[in-house]
This record gives sequence, structure tokens and C-alpha cells, in this order.
Amino acid sequence: MSNHAIEITGLRKTYAGQKGAPPKEALKGVDLTIPAGSIFGLLGPNGAGKSTLINILAGLVTKTAGQVRIWGFDQDINPRQSRAAIGVMPQELNMDPFFTPRGALDVQAGLYGVPKSQRRTDQILEMIGLSDKADAYARTLSGGMRRRLLLGKALVHRPHVLVLDEPTAGVDIELRQMLWANVRKLNEQGMTIILTTHYLEEAEEMCDEIAIINHGAVVVRDKTSALLGRLDAKTLVLRLDAPLAHLTLPDGVTQEIRADGRLALTYRRSQVSAGALLAAVANAGGVVVDVTSEEPDLQDVFLSLTTGPGQAA
Ligand SMILES: Nc1ncnc2c1ncn2[C@@H]1O[C@H](COP(=O)(O)OP(=O)(O)O)[C@@H](O)[C@H]1O
Ligand SMILES: [Mg+2]
Repeated sequence: MSNHAIEITGLRKTYAGQKGAPPKEALKGVDLTIPAGSIFGLLGPNGAGKSTLINILAGLVTKTAGQVRIWGFDQDINPRQSRAAIGVMPQELNMDPFFTPRGALDVQAGLYGVPKSQRRTDQILEMIGLSDKADAYARTLSGGMRRRLLLGKALVHRPHVLVLDEPTAGVDIELRQMLWANVRKLNEQGMTIILTTHYLEEAEEMCDEIAIINHGAVVVRDKTSALLGRLDAKTLVLRLDAPLAHLTLPDGVTQEIRADGRLALTYRRSQVSAGALLAAVANAGGVVVDVTSEEPDLQDVFLSLTTGPGQAA
């Protein structure tokens, strides 16, 4: 196979309109490749089409057009192999309350045709921290435990690719950390991870590469570091020994006095150097006591890409 865990071309999905509503075009021709071995973030606001894309990968939603290859297997030509290559932790908590965690994992393994001798139920229970709840009825589990069980279910057939759809939406810090620790460990063992989120910090912290999706289309896809580097704006924050009477700055630089009295100079890295700003301050008689610089974060990139041209930061 190629070194792509996932290759998506021209993917479209139009949901039929319900009760007289017009059809909804949720994916408008998505092309996306996801490298094997990465932790890949699919980022976008609510309604962007993230779950639709994930559910198509998982075989839960039928695509309208396009091609999907998972671990080299075309979904239409090799449905079994492509399905076996991927495990999905869904966004929705849909769980049969009559199963125990052990039972749920066994049923799932059975669905994927994992022979009894190759099941690793106890290992998974331990990983998701449910060993002591292994035989408790699912309806007695807390929301967090049910989510952990969903993660366990996604892992029973040792998929190459693990997909987590908004795994941390509304979960507590402890569960979040437990999830991320598991995700990192699985990734170190070679598993490709795809996660959707609308939490920017999360994508920034966890993902090697990110695609931002909005209104059913990928608006950008890049390495996380490169995405952050896309924004040219940078701010130099100076503490001076005394306020300046008269500061002449290069064109395009904006200045602001912060509430703490520091002088903030925002400039474009491609046009102005920090040295030129410091020189301007020195020329005005300013003595710099302390200096820090601020880089754009993903929030800025995200806003600049999802609010359309003209409003870019
Ligand atoms: N089963 C469905 N029937 C009709 N429209 C749907 C269905 N599922 C999702 N949609 C619509 O498709 C769009 C994308 O939804 P979704 O993929 O869930 O976005 P996200 O996961 O990014 O929040 C939304 O406008 C949503 O209302
Ligand atoms: Mg969703």
C-alpha cells in the first residue's frame, strides 16, 4: 500500500430532505489524504460535515459520490478489508444497556470475526480503566465510563486507523487526559489516529497535521506548525522605563498601550523586522526594560479561514 492511511477523492454527501425540507449537501467534493502513522485533526465548526465524513469512513453513512480508500483498500471494491482497517469511536453515546463491558467487547469482536483465541478483552478493559467494571451492566456505568467503553469497542479488531469523533466534547479533565494518554500510546505503537474536534487548543496540542473543514469543504490542510506559521501577524510587547511622548513607527505597524502599561506593537513579519521596531523605540528615547513576542495561535488561523476573505487577521 501507499503511505497513506486514508485517501479520499471527490467525496460528496447529500442527505435527503426530511419532512419537505430541501436536501442537505453536507460534503461538497472533499479530497483528503491522511498519512499513515500520524495523529491527524479534522477541525471545524458544528455542522461543517466532520461526522458525515467520519461516518462514511466507518461505513455508517452511504456516500453520494467519490472514492474512499482505507489502508489501501477501496471501500467499494474491498469493503471487508477497508472496514477491518478502521475502528471508530462515534460521537453519539449509543450503547446497549443489557451488555456488560466484557460482553460488549466480545460481541464487537464477534462482529469483526476476531477468533476467541485472538481476543484481548482483558487487555482492552485494563487500558480503558474498566477492569473492575468488566461485569457491571452498562446502564450502571457513568457517561465517562460509557465513552471509555466506546473507545474499547473501536479497538477490538486491532485496526490500523483509529477514528475518534469529538471524543472530549463535554467530558471532564480526567477522562480527557486518559483519552489523550491512550491515543498517544496507540500512536507510538504505530496506529494512525484521526480525531475531530472543534476545540482548537486540542488540535494544536495533539495533532501533527490538520485539515480545517467548513460548510462541507476542506478549506486548508497542512502541518500544524505550518498552519500556525501561515499567519504573518506578530506582536512585540515592550515594557519601557517611561512612557514615550512621540513614537514614529514603520508603515503598517499598529501600537496599543496594554492595561498593564506595556506597549504592544503588531506588525507583519514579512514586511517589518523586530529590530526595526526596537530601533524606532530607541530613536524615540525609549529604554526597554523587558520584551516578549506573541505569535498567532490556531484560533486566529481558524477565524481567518472560516470567516471568509476580507476579514482575515
Ligand atoms: N442524517 C442527516 N440528515 C439530514 N441532514 C444531516 C444528517 N446528518 C447531518 N446532517 C446535516 O449535515 C451537515 C453536517 O453535519 P455533521 O456531519 O454532523 O457536521 P459536524 O460533525 O461537523 O458537526 C449539518 O448541516 C447537518 O445538519
Ligand atoms: Mg459531529
